[in-house]
Amino acid sequence: MLSPVKKRLRPVEASARGQAEVKFMDVRVYLVERKMGSSRRSFLTRLATSKGFRVEDVLSDEVTHVVAEDYLATQLWAWLQGHGLRDVSKLQVLDISWFTESMRDGRPVTVESRHLIQATSPPLPQCPSPTPVAQVSQYACKRRTTTENHNKMFTDALEVLAESSEFCENEGPCLAFLRSVSVLKSLSFAVGSLKATQGLPCLGEHTKAVMEEILMFGRCFEVEKIQCDERYQALKLFTGVFGVGPKTAEKWYSRGLRSLREILTEPNIKLNKMQRAGFLYYRDISKAVSKAEAKALGRIIEETVHSIVPDAILDLTGGFRRGKEYGHDVDFLLTTPEMGKEKGLLLQGILLYCEHQDSTFDVTKMPSYRFEAMDHFQKCFMILRLAEDQVEGGLQRDLGDTRCWRGVRVDVVVPPVDRYAFTLIGWTGSRMFVRDLRRFARKERQMLFDNHALYDKTKKLFLRATTEEDVFAHLGLEYVEPWQRNA
Ligand code: CTP
Ligand code: MN
Ligand code: MN
Repeated sequence: MLSPVKKRLRPVEASARGQAEVKFMDVRVYLVERKMGSSRRSFLTRLATSKGFRVEDVLSDEVTHVVAEDYLATQLWAWLQGHGLRDVSKLQVLDISWFTESMRDGRPVTVESRHLIQATSPPLPQCPSPTPVAQVSQYACKRRTTTENHNKMFTDALEVLAESSEFCENEGPCLAFLRSVSVLKSLSFAVGSLKATQGLPCLGEHTKAVMEEILMFGRCFEVEKIQCDERYQALKLFTGVFGVGPKTAEKWYSRGLRSLREILTEPNIKLNKMQRAGFLYYRDISKAVSKAEAKALGRIIEETVHSIVPDAILDLTGGFRRGKEYGHDVDFLLTTPEMGKEKGLLLQGILLYCEHQDSTFDVTKMPSYRFEAMDHFQKCFMILRLAEDQVEGGLQRDLGDTRCWRGVRVDVVVPPVDRYAFTLIGWTGSRMFVRDLRRFARKERQMLFDNHALYDKTKKLFLRATTEEDVFAHLGLEYVEPWQRNA
């Protein structure tokens, strides 16, 4: 991703009061200390200053944004009016949520009406949460989660803890952290105090302690410690290579290897075909794929497939179907209207690398009681060459990059058409959404659901579905649109 070039400020501006350089010249924040307390106020001041905000000690006519926490609007306005300012109506008088969101985004977010503490508005409720938290379900498939995350500050930290638990093979804690991440992502508001989380499911003691620390200090020391840990850093680096899982990464780490260069120059390391491709195209595939690049690949694959089977059906799935702007790969589902014709539907001519798995799907072995990470359909894990002129607006480019193509990770799965709806749900994800759909089916409906089928254990029969809506209806669930499945 290209990062915008930051303008350097004049040194005088930058060094005023020993603060980091001021990035936002038009914004002067004043934090109302009453209710907030002086230690929290100085902490928030340091946090904002470190992010390039100018925070004023005294309320004067220079101030543009007044931020207050847990304040009764009438009291606050009375207090402001008693300050003898030239024009109080010019002030943006804001709830702490504006401040929290601005810290999260690292820039002053646009003031919306929900941020405003209006002179005439009724007093703020004790717990300023617009979503009734009591209605948040423990099942991700009963929540609607868009790509808009109001609690990134917390979820980023908790995802580090989940990953670190995974590296230590602590599956329980890993899943617990992922569940709390998923709940926080579903909220339509930024959590501003622990009180606002009362009644939310899946938030354990550890998660709450982490959140409290972030609310108080803007950071979590446990997370920072993990991020500095040598083992964590090495495992994260190694598992970032296509074809390298936690087991292989651990093996390399325990042999004393720490960098990718060391892996490549160590004579005793034997890489498999997938890992060799992972290293060969590392630079390309560790770079996010844009929506335009994903669309271009869709057109290319469609064209290639249609030249072999003209009525083949191709759908974009995975993160892009859920409305994400960037992904680590592009996922497609492919089938043919006529059953059986999907067999041997292979892609040729554009492959840089393809790990092909033939179908091992066996109807007589259904339903499956085992939880399997992988389905049995024919599939390809590929790295495709995408040329500059194939992408609308061109490829994303790093400075000094003159190549006219890039490699992109692409997954294609090919189920028979009568299984299409199940597989489409499975491959659209998110992982947590689908995991909970299965859990909900098993626990609440005595049904088994996976990428192949939906089985009713009580009636002892398979339920047919041609669309995703059919599957939700069989499960007695309200339909959740793909862009609401970012759990
Ligand atoms: N999936 C699956 N079987 C696999 C691999 C993936 O069912 N062998 C499913 C995953 O559960 C996920 C979806 O396919 O829901 C997409 O997987 P992936 O590409 O890893 O994740 P995305 O959500 O697309 O995230 P990203 O944008 O980073 O690619
Ligand atoms: Mn994907
Ligand atoms: Mn994928």
